Amino acid sequence: MNLIETKIQNLLTEFHQQLTSATTLEALEHVRVQFLGRNGQISEFVKDIKNFSPEDKKLWGGKFNQLKQESEQAFQDRLIILQQAHLQQLELAQKSFDVTSYVPNQARGSLHPCTLIVQKVENVFISMGYQIADGPELETDFYNFEALNIAPNHPARDMQDTFWVNLPGQLMRTQTSNVQIHTLQNQEPPVAILAPGRVYRSEATDASHDFVFKQFEGLLVGKDISMANLLATMQACLQAIFEKERLNIRVRPGFFPFVEPGVEIDMQCPFCEQGCSVCKRSCWIELCGAGLVHPNVLKAVGVDSQIYSGFAFGFGLTRLVMLYYGISDIRLLHSSKISFLEQF
Ligand code: DAH
Repeated sequence: MNLIETKIQNLLTEFHQQLTSATTLEALEHVRVQFLGRNGQISEFVKDIKNFSPEDKKLWGGKFNQLKQESEQAFQDRLIILQQAHLQQLELAQKSFDVTSYVPNQARGSLHPCTLIVQKVENVFISMGYQIADGPELETDFYNFEALNIAPNHPARDMQDTFWVNLPGQLMRTQTSNVQIHTLQNQEPPVAILAPGRVYRSEATDASHDFVFKQFEGLLVGKDISMANLLATMQACLQAIFEKERLNIRVRPGFFPFVEPGVEIDMQCPFCEQGCSVCKRSCWIELCGAGLVHPNVLKAVGVDSQIYSGFAFGFGLTRLVMLYYGISDIRLLHSSKISFLEQF
């Protein structure tokens, strides 16, 4: 009978150990099933008494009952402790719950159409090995005109009505071409950069003109760079931007003092085959100015034009955005009109 006594002791010890190591309600329930459930170790042990002889039943009946009751009580005590702890935890979580942090049906922002196109074009040029460059918007005469082969009395200065500011020789840049000069002053060729940015022109505003808009400037300087490289680059980039397998370009002579020869590039209309309102039924869209970097520009930044040559191009980023998304009024782009912006 000592054996039974030992068994009771062992059972109780294990049960209490398990109770104290159960720190969550789930774990406690697990212990209950294991010991006090219908087939639990204690229940099974207690059930066994029916096989005892009448004397043994008398002798052990009380002990077995006590075992059952005490273990059930111990379980209840532990249950209350864990329930209280659980409630405390809930209370704490509720206290630090910030009711202002979640607004149902919260309005979500979106990227500005200009940002979307900048990202798209930058990705195309980055994939071709170009670096993204930046330059100042408040600029000096030297970087905006002089170093770009536009002499003080050059007629090209009349073409660009400039915002001069109240600082000697300073102006708001009229073109992103100033980045060409900054880049070539700071970096030895080979150089390949794309510079998106704002430019300023002192002109009247209407649906297609604004006094501030955005351009992309491209510059590649290296050895043996030819017109063929320029045209292949322009075609590849336009095909990637408009996601077309083939998009033709055509070239007309154009004059820009910082390139020689200078060209104007048109692209085949990406929206139609036989003429539409975007291309004004011509199937061609004027896109950008470009050309081979003028030797005077290379001279101004101390690059030997006997060794190096290059191409440059500049196109209207704002115009491209309008074209791409079919936006008819340039002023919408900085109108902060939510009904317009939320379409992107
Ligand atoms: N900067 C010129 C403009 O604002 C555009 C341009 C033309 C840029 C030809 C170039 C270029 O780099 O080669 O009208």
